[in-house]
Amino acid sequence: MGDNKSISSEGGTFVSFATNAIHAGQEPERWKSLAVVPLISLSSTFKQSSPGECPGGYDYSRGGNPTRDVLEQCVASLDNAKYAFAFSSGLSAMMSICHLLKSGDHVLSMDDLYGGSNRYFQKVLRNMGIEIDFVDCRDVNNVKKAIKSNTKLVWLETPTNPLLRLVDIQVVCEVVHAIGGILVCVDNTFSSSYFQRPIDLGADLTMCSATKYMNGHSDVVMGLVSTNNQEISERLKFLQLALGTIPSPFDCFLVNRGLKTLHLRMKEHQKNAMVVAKFLETNNCVSKVIYPGLPSHPQHELAKRQMKGFSGMVTFFIKGGINQSRLFLQSSKLFTLAESLGGFESLAELPCVMTHASVPAEERLKLGITDTLIRLSVGLEDSGDLIADLDQALKVAIPDVDALKG
Ligand SMILES: Cc1ncc(COP(=O)(O)O)c(C=O)c1O
Repeated sequence: MGDNKSISSEGGTFVSFATNAIHAGQEPERWKSLAVVPLISLSSTFKQSSPGECPGGYDYSRGGNPTRDVLEQCVASLDNAKYAFAFSSGLSAMMSICHLLKSGDHVLSMDDLYGGSNRYFQKVLRNMGIEIDFVDCRDVNNVKKAIKSNTKLVWLETPTNPLLRLVDIQVVCEVVHAIGGILVCVDNTFSSSYFQRPIDLGADLTMCSATKYMNGHSDVVMGLVSTNNQEISERLKFLQLALGTIPSPFDCFLVNRGLKTLHLRMKEHQKNAMVVAKFLETNNCVSKVIYPGLPSHPQHELAKRQMKGFSGMVTFFIKGGINQSRLFLQSSKLFTLAESLGGFESLAELPCVMTHASVPAEERLKLGITDTLIRLSVGLEDSGDLIADLDQALKVAIPDVDALKG
């Protein structure tokens, strides 16, 4: 997936990531006008030549849309997959995947994961007769032990939200696939297709909230799923039609446009995040920094092996209590206090009362999501300005670190 490999085209996809992002699925020849920029096809319905005959290849936009097709082909190439599907949000992508299951099935999920995914599993899917267990999948033995005869899906998130824990995708896939009949799906939101390709590591499905890095401009809510499995692809295509969990053509256009700069943005996110992580690690108002790119991360070696880069998410524990967390977040001028991540702008949030408020308090504490855990999405601003802002906000939150100890 290096950017500098020689160009060759096979079925409209190319060897290198950047070239695929710009060209895959986007041949001007697919439009009568030979438009270089894909058209936004807003029509909800398409003319038939006789009942049931659709010469244009489309009948109704819920089932298929020309602009969505462009995006899906591009995304498939970026995930090194044969098929990709776009949904109206990350959670609707997740819900659509879970419609591959039936009542009585069992799902095994990573314990640390996005709060909304946790809420969907616990408060929605469970009520539909599907069993869910959460285990720490960092240790593959926990996965082995928790698999049941009715397990049909293993749900991994890596790096996790918000603790940036990693799961060895390849090892888990080997163990799970040796049992047979169980799908492994990886939520790849934090890495994006640029820094991690779960399908290359053996996953059956990779999904992401495209709301984040894939779009990158904080102006779309969308989910994406890729797979190499033809049978699953046919079922997902059917589910787009049958559930109606599809994005609008305009949003497809925007995400496709965002993908053009994904490789450039991700490198810059990583560069800035590394500067921020190193700054925080030496700051005496901070008790711990979690960033997979730092040698202090307990899974740094796995991160280097599994990911092409470490992304722009940095989590840290501020000294003190919830008051210090609140003061810090209210004092930052460049890190906007807001949920979400992966956009060009820096964001900061307090998971225990924001993104992970729906995770039961005792589970949050067991995982380590405390009142002083702060999650940063490091954007594309000048890194010197970001450091200066963090420095001043930490000083406002903790004017005298020694007094705090007393
Ligand atoms: C890791 C992860 N997965 C899934 C989602 C859900 O995506 P969306 O908000 O697009 O529904 C999020 C949202 O924050 C996320 O962080």
